[in-house]
Order: sequence, then C-alpha cells, then structure tokens
Amino acid sequence: MSRKPIIAGNWKMYKTVKESVDFVKQLEGKLKDVTDREILVCPTALAAASVVDALRFTNIQVGLQDAHWENEGAYTGNISPIMLKDAGVHYIILGHSERRQYDNDTDHRINAKLKNVLRSGLKAIVCVGETLSEREKGQTEKVVETQVNGCFEGIGLGDLAGIVIAYEPVWAIGTGKTATPEQANEVHSFIRKLIGKKYNAEASEKIRIQYGGSVKPENIKQLMAQLDIDGALVGGASLKVDSFTAIVRF
Ligand code: PGA
Repeated sequence: MSRKPIIAGNWKMYKTVKESVDFVKQLEGKLKDVTDREILVCPTALAAASVVDALRFTNIQVGLQDAHWENEGAYTGNISPIMLKDAGVHYIILGHSERRQYDNDTDHRINAKLKNVLRSGLKAIVCVGETLSEREKGQTEKVVETQVNGCFEGIGLGDLAGIVIAYEPVWAIGTGKTATPEQANEVHSFIRKLIGKKYNAEASEKIRIQYGGSVKPENIKQLMAQLDIDGALVGGASLKVDSFTAIVRF
C-alpha cells in the first residue's frame, strides 16, 4: 500500500504576519507543480488567517501548532479547533515535545485535544518521542508505547484517517543531531506494529508516520528511503524558503 508523503513545516514562535505571508508567497511559486505529496506550513495562530488567504487555491495546506480541548469558554489565551477550522486551517499539531515540556501537555490532555480536533473536522499530527536519557536507559519503545496509548485512548478505527503520527526523538529536535535513518525507522516500524495491535493490519499499513528532529535538505532523502517513514515534521529548516523547498522535493 502506498502512503502519500506529508512534509510539514513547524514554524514555532517565528515570523511576524508579514514575514509569514511573504514567505508563503515565495514558497507557493516554487512548489506549484508538486502534486504527489502533501505540503503543510504551521505558522503562529496570529498569522494563520493571513497565511490561509495567501495560500487559497494552492497545493499548500495550513496547520496550527496547538488547539484547545473545548470549543469555547473561559480559557484565557487559548484558541479552539472550531475557530481554526472557520479560519481555513486544515491540520493541528498536538503534543509537540516543546508543548509537553513548557505548556503542560500530558498524554491525557493531548487525547482530549485530539478528540476535539477530530470532532471539529480537522486533521491532527500527534507527536511522540523519547528524551536522550530515556533512550540511553533503553526505554524508547516503552515511552513511545505509553504516549501512543495515552494519546489514542478512545480513538476509534474510523478516526485514524484524520491522524498522522510524528515520531520526534526529543534529543534530535533543534540540536543538529538527527536519528540515523535506521534508528528512526526502527521506532517507526515499532509504532506501526503498535497501531496494528490496537486496531488492525489495514490501519497499520495506512497510517502515516512522519519523522521530526533536525531534518535538513542533506538528510531527507535517506530518511524518506526508509520503509516506514512517510514524511517529515521540520522545524529550523522550514524557516527558509530554499531549504524547505529542497526538503519538500527530496
Ligand atoms: P527541528 O525541529 O527540525 O528544528 O529539529 C523539529 C520539530 O520541532 O518539529
């Protein structure tokens, strides 16, 4: 079964509204002809509506970096998926390690957010991954399994079509240290088997699993050559038009 590659740029807390719009206008010109993979940029919430406008009728979709577990309410400083859907956003990244570290995203909370994202008719990228000390203690599989089980609690087979998993070893994010393609694929294949156990063989074949952590134009080809790697979630290298273009075109 062939899975359509998905390359996403996570801009984190970078780029003003104007910088975001200028960026996607350039990007769009460079990637017009690409139809065999999904392309996604994830700006700040502030820039989302302007980026959606700039990318209307193009092959580039827009994601956000988080969304709330409720659709409205007294939650100062938050944005709900239904509002983002209304603004034209397609995907929400959930459980990024930086949010787990600095913004209290636990598996339980990510699970509640995931349910609300899917209910709102949006798609989700659910991030999992171990820290360096967990890897060194040989706990990678256990950690990733706990995260997948927690984030997918109560998620039905029919919901999986709206979910992409991103395996992002925390020690490889923003550090320049990429997991080797083989190291990454080992965990991807473990996650795929896990989805097979939790759901069924077809679901495990179908689900797309992105790799994230210091993805660059220089290493994307080898990563994408691995059997169980279906795309990339790119931080630093997604902030420049040329490097993100090269990664999308791997
Ligand atoms: P990086 O970030 O590419 O800068 O390592 C990846 C991510 O945080 O998704």
